[in-house]
Amino acid sequence: GSVVLVETLSKNFFLYLSKNKVLNKSAKRWGLKLGAAQVVAGVSVASVVKVVKALNEKGLVCTVDHLGEFVLNREEAIESTNICIETLEAIATTGVNCNLSLKLTQLGLDIDRKLCVENILRILEVAKKNHNFIRIDMEDYAHYHQTLEIFRELRRKYNNVGTVIQAYLHCAQKDLESLKGIPLRLVKGAYKEAPEVAYQKKEQIDENYMKLIKQHLLTGSYTAIASHDHEIIAKVKRFCIEQQIPKSQFEFQMLYGFRTDMQERIAKEGYTMRVYVPFGNDWYGYFMRRLAERPQNVSFALKGFFSK
Ligand code: FDA
Repeated sequence: GSVVLVETLSKNFFLYLSKNKVLNKSAKRWGLKLGAAQVVAGVSVASVVKVVKALNEKGLVCTVDHLGEFVLNREEAIESTNICIETLEAIATTGVNCNLSLKLTQLGLDIDRKLCVENILRILEVAKKNHNFIRIDMEDYAHYHQTLEIFRELRRKYNNVGTVIQAYLHCAQKDLESLKGIPLRLVKGAYKEAPEVAYQKKEQIDENYMKLIKQHLLTGSYTAIASHDHEIIAKVKRFCIEQQIPKSQFEFQMLYGFRTDMQERIAKEGYTMRVYVPFGNDWYGYFMRRLAERPQNVSFALKGFFSK
């Protein structure tokens, strides 16, 4: 009882902090603090490429994400687009095994939908030229339908783009059904959502998560299982062996700095293991959401705080 209460309180607390614009703004000037350097690969394109190279040498592939929260004007959205393009070019010239993840709000979704679409189209053109892949991360429910709608529009012209479905959403199964054959990342879901739209209990989310994974795999679609949950991972491995689903039809994904030993072990077993590597000076919201997911991660924050 009391453990659950403490976990719930700290979860809500960190999610609340993640949305604090003033703290977000000051954090940009702090440098990587509070232990964020353990989970964020520096602030520049050069620093993230270096990290990716080292991970590749350990048999891990990557996806990089230039962190950006609260993009409030056209200039910031265009700047963010330019960094995505710069990152794609750096991936191509260095030859690292890595694709790109991004969020549509970073490209201006909240400012002007048309601008956002123009920006993502510019990115997709460069990715196509470089034979690379773009993953559109899924944000909170307030952006869910717009994100899916833009994604479907993009898929009519580009096949080098995928998105994410969150198992906590009641509508996940129906939407997944309509995305057969499309490469998707499946996750449990990271935001705080109302009970009207999302399951709240871990058991329900886990159950729906496994259901979605099986559903997408059985339609022959490429599936990325993004989770640090060893039980889920074990179940997926078992299911794929039983159903003779080849290792080339799915991959596991984990975040940079989380369960590093397990990441390497999974790669050694011959599975594709992709590490999601965030970078940039806008690390604050990302870091707070990670603390919210797992109260034990607070030790990151405390160690980081006292060691800097
Ligand atoms: P969960 O947090 O439910 O943990 C289950 C169990 O696993 C724990 O009880 C514990 O036993 C063990 N465990 C978990 N973490 C551990 C650790 N660090 N050390 C030891 N044991 C641990 N969300 C979203 O809404 N939109 C998105 O686009 C994405 N994208 C994304 C990409 C990638 C690569 C990942 C890994 C995750 C996301 N997410 C996301 C986040 C996702 O929705 C979810 O919030 C987190 O992954 C946490 O859920 P897990 O499935 O990892 O396990």
